Amino acid sequence: MLLLLLLLLHHQQAYKCDVTVKVKEGDDAILPCSLSTRENIVQKLYDWRKDGQKEVFLYDGGLHYNNGRTGQDQQFRGRVSHFPDQLQFGNASIVIRNTTMTDSGNYTCDFPRLQPKRLIFHIELIVGAAPALWTKILKVTEDGVVLQCEVRGASPKPDVKWQDGDGNVLRAEEPQVSERGGLYYVSLLTTVTKTSTNLFHCVSTQKDIGHRTKEEIYVPGKKMGFKLRVMHLSVVGFVFGVVVVCSVSVSEVCVEQRMRTGWCDLCLHVLNSVESYFEMTGSSCCVLSLDNISVCLMWSGL
Ligand SMILES: *[C@@H]1O[C@H](CO)[C@@H](O)[C@H](O)[C@H]1NC(C)=O
Ligand SMILES: *[C@@H]1O[C@H](CO)[C@@H](O)[C@H](O)[C@H]1NC(C)=O
Ligand SMILES: *[C@@H]1O[C@H](CO)[C@@H](O)[C@H](O)[C@H]1NC(C)=O
Repeated sequence: MLLLLLLLLHHQQAYKCDVTVKVKEGDDAILPCSLSTRENIVQKLYDWRKDGQKEVFLYDGGLHYNNGRTGQDQQFRGRVSHFPDQLQFGNASIVIRNTTMTDSGNYTCDFPRLQPKRLIFHIELIVGAAPALWTKILKVTEDGVVLQCEVRGASPKPDVKWQDGDGNVLRAEEPQVSERGGLYYVSLLTTVTKTSTNLFHCVSTQKDIGHRTKEEIYVPGKKMGFKLRVMHLSVVGFVFGVVVVCSVSVSEVCVEQRMRTGWCDLCLHVLNSVESYFEMTGSSCCVLSLDNISVCLMWSGL
């Protein structure tokens, strides 16, 4: 039993140095493989394979796939190199250029004839896809302007956030995530109101592959107003003992976001600053309440 355990430990040692390399598509990936003894391997043999079968790079005492040796898998032809000046330090690392997602997988760096025992190193390569980002104004509502950020074709799954011009993360709706062919598609909505710059950013982060994509959107100030619809508003007020009745059928008012704190605030604002009222369309009724007095003022076709 003890012997078996020792054997297992011994076996495990041959597989030490398990590493994961993460890059984004199009980048070069260095797959590390070094003998801890740092012994010279210029005259040695080592063999890189992918997923236990595909021939990636074979080096045999100076002869390899880039100088005449045949047998390399088509997928890696012309894309893989070793580091000749590193061989004397026992460094059998390779670089795969211009990676694609199909390069993702489990690689082995094998020294089949090494003495006293064979050594096999395992390296996992994860090639991520950087997504394309789109931002747009989806709609204008009473609560503000709804912005949509679309992230298409990301792998691994991205973390998507909306930020204001100062980089503060904005509250957003639950992201809609879908996956097709290993790629993620994310849609994220947020509702924004006026800021000093009216600039907003959608940021997609893929921590695993150290990739960040950012897209800016500017919301024109006039969009920051919103439409307020008043339907069949009837008010009865008392002014100096006189009953005032006001009735509005439909009216659409465009007001600035920050003015909206209720009917009366809206009206007070209108009373104080008639100029900003020119955006109003149709006719409107404004109700002003003071203690137990309600005044209804009516505009039409200003
Ligand atoms: C092996 O060589 C590569 C390429 O020069 C280098 O990035 C890596 O750090 C080296 N490994 C060691 C253990 O020196
Ligand atoms: C990288 O690979 C892609 C597709 O596999 C190809 O379109 C592109 O030209 C390559 N880039 C370089 C620099 O070789
Ligand atoms: C690589 O091996 C690990 C552990 O065995 C496994 O979880 C992973 O799915 C493999 N990766 C690929 C691309 O086959």
